Amino acid sequence: MAAKKKLSNPVVAVVGATGAVGVELIHCLEQRNFPLSELRLFASARSAGKSLKFRGKKIKVKELTEKSFDGVQIGLFSAGSSTTKKFAKAAVAAGTIIIDNSSAYRMDPEVPLVVPEINPQAIRTHKGIIANPNCSAIISTCQAASGAGAAAMEELRESTRAYLDGKKFTPKVLPHPYAFNAFSHNTKIDPATAHNEEETKVINETRKIFGDPSIAIGITCVRIPVLRAHCVSVTFECENPISPEEVRKILRKAPGVKVVDDVERNYFPMPVDASGQDDILVGRIRRDLSDSTGRSISIFSAGDQLRKGAALNAVQIAERLVG
Ligand code: A2P
Repeated sequence: MAAKKKLSNPVVAVVGATGAVGVELIHCLEQRNFPLSELRLFASARSAGKSLKFRGKKIKVKELTEKSFDGVQIGLFSAGSSTTKKFAKAAVAAGTIIIDNSSAYRMDPEVPLVVPEINPQAIRTHKGIIANPNCSAIISTCQAASGAGAAAMEELRESTRAYLDGKKFTPKVLPHPYAFNAFSHNTKIDPATAHNEEETKVINETRKIFGDPSIAIGITCVRIPVLRAHCVSVTFECENPISPEEVRKILRKAPGVKVVDDVERNYFPMPVDASGQDDILVGRIRRDLSDSTGRSISIFSAGDQLRKGAALNAVQIAERLVG
């Protein structure tokens, strides 16, 4: 299928163009000078007729229909699982390669789940759909509003304003007061495991990306009142003893990672620094003192959920499809 040939100046569509990730997808395509011949923007009927800017020109947003994919080679989807499921068949039938930000097909064995810095080889195996992973990959997370979409970001702004003005605010998007609060991730809890959907995704997706179903992961996901960058606290165990300095060295060379680890100034990764950045900030690299074997290391990281956690990763996958 067309899948195996590199595409040249493809027609690209952004599905969910008006959403928090959709807008960021358009920025990424522009900032990275993505080689495309035409950009088409789609959202729900509510947004039809709105315009969004790309490379200095306004592009009209159209309502997504099954006919939207005629002539589109790459479809960057970020309109939720139900939209992906509803339109994937029509898009693939039209020859569009879908790079999907939703969880719709992430665990489908036929669909590669890709972080280009980790498993770019998986892209080649696609049959029309490539999945972009969930924003967090490991362990104890503090997650920003952006992961729940543009409406949740607005709810954080509005509820904070109301809180400071001493006014009552009734949450509309999230289940609990968001301003000056933190709560367990707002996805459904599986009664069998007592883990929420976000935690389950982190376990399953990490194993799939690394191609190792035996990776053991303990995880807690929490929503914190931050607009767009998630934080992750990770303790990982290596096969052999390893020093924090060795880990720092490896991470300094790792693509997409920036080491922010200033012990003297107590300056470590923060959402305010990560927001708008492509790199994932990693710091607090230290021995896990509870492990006497010297194989466990703890780190703390902050990464922009809308960039590497969604739009940027999708565009990086698309870049590997074009020649
Ligand atoms: P719209 O703005 O017209 O509702 P977010 O994750 O920030 O909530 O954004 C979701 C994105 O998905 C928006 O662009 C939204 O469009 C789009 N969307 C939601 N439902 C549909 C649908 N049925 N068809 C196409 N786009 C959709």
